[in-house]
Amino acid sequence: MKVALANGVYWVGAIDWNLRFCGSYNTPRGTTYNAYLIVDEKIALVDTVKTGFEDEMFKRIGEIVDPAKIDYIICNHAEMDHSGAMLNLMEVAKKAKVYATSTGKDTLWEHYSRDWDVEVVKTGDELSLGKKNLMFISASMLHWPDNMFTYIKEDHILMSNDAFGGHIAAHYRFEDEVGPAAMDEATKYFAVIVSLYSTIVQKKLKEIKDMGIAIDMIAPAHGVIWRSPGKILDAYDRWSRGEAGCKATVVFDTMWHSTEKMAREVTRGIADKGVEARLFNLRTSDWSEIIKEIIESRAIVVGSPTLNMGMYPTVGGFLTFLKGIRPPNKKAAAFGSYGWGKGAVRDINTALEDMKFALLPSLEIKYIPDEDELKSCYEFGKEIAKEVIRGG
Ligand code: FEO
Repeated sequence: MKVALANGVYWVGAIDWNLRFCGSYNTPRGTTYNAYLIVDEKIALVDTVKTGFEDEMFKRIGEIVDPAKIDYIICNHAEMDHSGAMLNLMEVAKKAKVYATSTGKDTLWEHYSRDWDVEVVKTGDELSLGKKNLMFISASMLHWPDNMFTYIKEDHILMSNDAFGGHIAAHYRFEDEVGPAAMDEATKYFAVIVSLYSTIVQKKLKEIKDMGIAIDMIAPAHGVIWRSPGKILDAYDRWSRGEAGCKATVVFDTMWHSTEKMAREVTRGIADKGVEARLFNLRTSDWSEIIKEIIESRAIVVGSPTLNMGMYPTVGGFLTFLKGIRPPNKKAAAFGSYGWGKGAVRDINTALEDMKFALLPSLEIKYIPDEDELKSCYEFGKEIAKEVIRGG
């Protein structure tokens, strides 16, 4: 069945139902590689699909036009999940000219070493297809330096590639058909892929607003198409400013369950002050899911036992993952148990400070927490909750 976004604008991508890991995170719901065909006096294809999904894309294009008749291939991003099918496509659409940013052109060469006819474009450049006109907008670092958006001026559709995307496979293409899982995955996608570039997101949102272009639909290269784009634009604005709900995320690992006992009391203390609290054991939880929770939290609380005068390897690994994401505007605190020597809380605090989180007081307990010490964990949680409620 053909999926039309507007008259002459079609989704011709592929559905990857079984992708379970992508780049740096788990993708339990799979993904899509969205390519868009624009049929006018000239025919343009915006992005392609990952290698291995070419046949699916060719079949969808073939239901609308002969792929050999494609005049232009717009490469919004040269990463292989979007450019992989170009190798086959350029053999079929032999006369097609490629449009990409300057970095995009270089990146295509570095990946494929093919002498394709690539026209370099920058923000504001346009390409006429006849009645429809495309405008290009640089979106560097959302997600790689080469990224750009393609905007159909007459249909007010922004084809945004990675930005505003989400890893979710579904029979339906539009967010309003898929339901809450779409926003859930978009949140996780922002958290893991985009959060590090929050400052750039803020600048880009302002730039688009200042351009005064109407946006009736956002069509990213992964997941659902947003027919009510205000929903995802507002969410990106909120997330990239570090705005979060009255919520805290507690993560820990444990050796002899002392840190686990502390974690439970800390979480109980937070919740009893009316702050939503989520608790995750790092050894058994999906780290991508935790990062999503952190984006939606004002505070992150990290617990670890001391091992060899330092933090537990799982905690260190998770903090390394989080350091690469560095969500803005978070408060953070450390806690943990120790035996004959301390070290874990010190190491956690160093990592949290390195990520520019606002550091709150810590809590350390020797060996096994007794009743009084568990009470102090509970009170520690309540103090964190006060900070969450205070916000800022
Ligand atoms: Fe979906 Fe940066 O590739």
